[in-house]
Amino acid sequence: MLILTAKDIEKFYTMKDAVAADKQALKIYTEGNSDVPLRINFDMQKGQCLFMPAHIKDQDIAGIKIVSVFPDNSKLGKPSVPAQVLMLDPKTGEVCALLDGTFVTQLRTGAVQGAATDLLARKDARRAVLIGTGGQAISQLEAMLTVRPLTDVAIFDIDIQKAKRFTDEVKCRFYHYSTHFYFSQDLDEDISLADIITSVTTSKVVTFNGDKVKPGTHINGVGAYTPQMHEIPQSIVEKADIRVLDTKEGVFAEAGDIIDPIKQNLVSEDDFLELGDLVIDPTQCRQNEEQITLFKTVGTAVLDVYIGYDIYLKAKEKGIGLDL
Ligand SMILES: NC(=O)c1ccc[n+]([C@@H]2O[C@H](COP(=O)([O-])OP(=O)(O)OC[C@H]3O[C@@H](n4cnc5c(N)ncnc54)[C@H](O)[C@@H]3O)[C@@H](O)[C@H]2O)c1
Repeated sequence: MLILTAKDIEKFYTMKDAVAADKQALKIYTEGNSDVPLRINFDMQKGQCLFMPAHIKDQDIAGIKIVSVFPDNSKLGKPSVPAQVLMLDPKTGEVCALLDGTFVTQLRTGAVQGAATDLLARKDARRAVLIGTGGQAISQLEAMLTVRPLTDVAIFDIDIQKAKRFTDEVKCRFYHYSTHFYFSQDLDEDISLADIITSVTTSKVVTFNGDKVKPGTHINGVGAYTPQMHEIPQSIVEKADIRVLDTKEGVFAEAGDIIDPIKQNLVSEDDFLELGDLVIDPTQCRQNEEQITLFKTVGTAVLDVYIGYDIYLKAKEKGIGLDL
């Protein structure tokens, strides 16, 4: 069994690899070539654990992500949401790899946004806004930088000090992109200039003013994952020319910012595509420079399992990781 930490994976697996893997995973999903059973949740005495399995039929790739939510862990100096991804050997059914699930989640969630941004944003998109500077934010930013040569990225969080610290951090970390990263002092102004907007927050209310969005902008909603959460303004869901989801099943069940406009008959389920549809038929991507495009993701185990196996194969090839 190969054990792969975040540091191991970072050594050889790039965001570009992850974007390509996520596109492929969602193509497989939309083609009906995967089994993704409903996540199993257990309440334990000190927290909750979630089991998220998937099987990719043609390639016979099977695995599971296990995520625990144990709020008191921070008192023990441990992460409060530990996660692992386990992969099975298709020849023997044995566990062949154990990967850092927190890192895999960040990578695949950044990459799925990168895949959507690549397929939907204008080719000449140069200015972006990132809203939310928590645990997922670095990989969200890296994904945008990977798929478009951005000149300016405005960064915002309701926790202003956190946003400023994050901005300083990314100036060092991503200096090689020659991008101007700055803390947004006027979010409305930055939204009105943006070609790409990514919101990755825990907010229950909309995180930006939809009236400020200019024609031609691509918007990613990454954070909201319960029917009570509404990160994306309803006006954007209504006026977007192309609306794309990672999986219809997941988003229609979980994301309040999409569920509510459907309930209010502002849009219908038929107005949405899956990202896999765009990979299968790229003519469904943006058709002109004026269209507003929207992508919403809540995540799916297909992404964890497909990317987990891709990482495992590449690590084996390169002799990286602890082989037990
Ligand atoms: N789509 C997916 O596949 C996927 C995967 C992982 C996580 N998520 C979701 O993404 C969200 C962010 O995850 P995280 O780990 O970065 O969370 P986090 O708690 O580390 O950070 C969330 C950040 O959002 C900020 N925020 C909250 N409300 C805001 C608002 N109105 N405007 C601006 N900033 C605001 C907070 O101050 C915080 O810095 C969570 O809801 C998480 O469940 C989605």
